[in-house]
Amino acid sequence: MNVLLYAPQYRPNLSSMIRSAEFYGLNKVYIYDSNQLMLPPTQSKKARAEMAHMARVWTAGAIEFVDIIKIEDLTAFISNYPGRKIATLLDKEAEHLNNFDFESDDLIIFGNEKDGLPETLTTLIEHNVYIPALGQTPCLNVAVTFGIVMHQALKSIDKKL
Ligand SMILES: C[S@@+](CC[C@H](N)C(=O)[O-])C[C@H]1O[C@@H](n2cnc3c(N)ncnc32)[C@H](O)[C@@H]1O
Repeated sequence: MNVLLYAPQYRPNLSSMIRSAEFYGLNKVYIYDSNQLMLPPTQSKKARAEMAHMARVWTAGAIEFVDIIKIEDLTAFISNYPGRKIATLLDKEAEHLNNFDFESDDLIIFGNEKDGLPETLTTLIEHNVYIPALGQTPCLNVAVTFGIVMHQALKSIDKKL
């Protein structure tokens, strides 16, 4: 199971997703970091140390155990990924998360807070999964989605959860 974070905008969401990824046993997270959330400050050693400290605090230490792998050429990465590519999408036509059979080498992709996933990317993806809303709120926070999808995906692969 691998995850790809597409252009997260907010560090609290990114931290929360790294924390959940590690909690669920992933040892790497792929990120397309076009908003440069992972870029270390250049101005001083102190600023870099502070950022490293905050990353540990915000992820509850998870950052120590996860490789954050930055993807530069997204199209090449997605096209060459050996397993299935699964997008989490706000699309009522997508497959209901609870009914989707995940596989251990799937790459699950999470979109940007404001814009989701671009069409250039969704055309490269084989499966879309969706968490249907029961209330009126149009969508979930991406980090909340991440936790729900990770739990369901691992449950679907390994029935022990
Ligand atoms: C806030 S949503 C993006 C909203 C954006 N306006 C759109 O239409 O895609 C951010 C990300 O959270 C995930 N997400 C949020 N709610 C979801 C849901 N109900 N089902 C599946 N994914 C969801 C998706 O990965 C989405 O790209």
